[in-house]
Amino acid sequence: MTMKKLAALALSAVFALGALTACGGSSSSGSVPAASAVSGSISASEASLKEVNIGLIQLMEHASLDEIRTAIEAGLEAKGAEYGVKVNVDYQNAQGDTSTINTICQQFVGNKVDAIVAIATPAAQGAATAAAGTDIPVIFSAVTDPAAAGLVENLEAPEGNITGTSDAIPVEKIFELAAELTPDAESFGLIYNTGEVNSVSVIDETKAYLEEKGISYTEASVASTGDVQTAAQTLLSKCDAIFAPIDNTVASAMGVLADEAIKAGKPVYVAADSMVNDGGLATVGVNYTNLGTQTADMLLKVLTGTPVREVPVEVLKENAVVVNEETAAAIGVDVSKYAR
Ligand code: TRP
Repeated sequence: MTMKKLAALALSAVFALGALTACGGSSSSGSVPAASAVSGSISASEASLKEVNIGLIQLMEHASLDEIRTAIEAGLEAKGAEYGVKVNVDYQNAQGDTSTINTICQQFVGNKVDAIVAIATPAAQGAATAAAGTDIPVIFSAVTDPAAAGLVENLEAPEGNITGTSDAIPVEKIFELAAELTPDAESFGLIYNTGEVNSVSVIDETKAYLEEKGISYTEASVASTGDVQTAAQTLLSKCDAIFAPIDNTVASAMGVLADEAIKAGKPVYVAADSMVNDGGLATVGVNYTNLGTQTADMLLKVLTGTPVREVPVEVLKENAVVVNEETAAAIGVDVSKYAR
């Protein structure tokens, strides 16, 4: 947040400088007020921008997906002109409902949008289905495993009209962090929605890792956010710690899971920074604002004529440790090494 404010301040400083320069430059024509000269040149360049219309679908509202959408919209605002376009965004939220996803995407296709942007795996799957057989490109955002989701096989050179950004989950690093922070945790409860491909693929990797390390685990599936509390209680009664993968259902009820774990005095390791902000103990994860910005860049390329097969899927690999100091204090875990 502070960084964003700083960036915004820096930006306005640049504009102020630009205005001053323009003022200086127009000094010979004396009678033209600097302010009107500046606003005149902005509207002239805006008029020459090509207007394009996109449909933006977000699976549901939770902090991380909201952060991604904000970054995409900001990226389009900031860079559209550079690409010669003004992007009109029709934003729709599916509130986590599969049939709503389909309705929204069919409407986008019916409206002949120039592209569909889809945030999170189930939304991307709906967009891909609706756009099949049309020439409308689909740019997905934050799809953890685009191949497993059936969206793209060759990430380097997408074969269909679909590309986008992916948030790789460093399972091994998360469990190494867990071993460091809570070395006594010998059994893990895995909580996720088996209907989310993004979670299943991370859980498969997790189980292989835990089996290799000889750590036991118990699974609990949640079909909707309403199931999270009971599943959490069951797992906490059996296990030393919980791991939640990059699961949209769990993320949108993260507060409930965090409260139960704190009551039980046990750690919850998660796969996204937003889930730490919502009370999880710790994660190693990607920066979702960067991911949104990259999604906007890819969309602008595709909208201005770059063929999708020349726009490889971008998998974000750079990640950082994020800890929740309040949660740590509440359950007596020392995270000072990672405190900000
Ligand atoms: N990667 C998730 C998916 O493929 C979407 C997602 C992004 C997410 N950020 C998250 C899920 C944070 C849970 C928490 O659907």
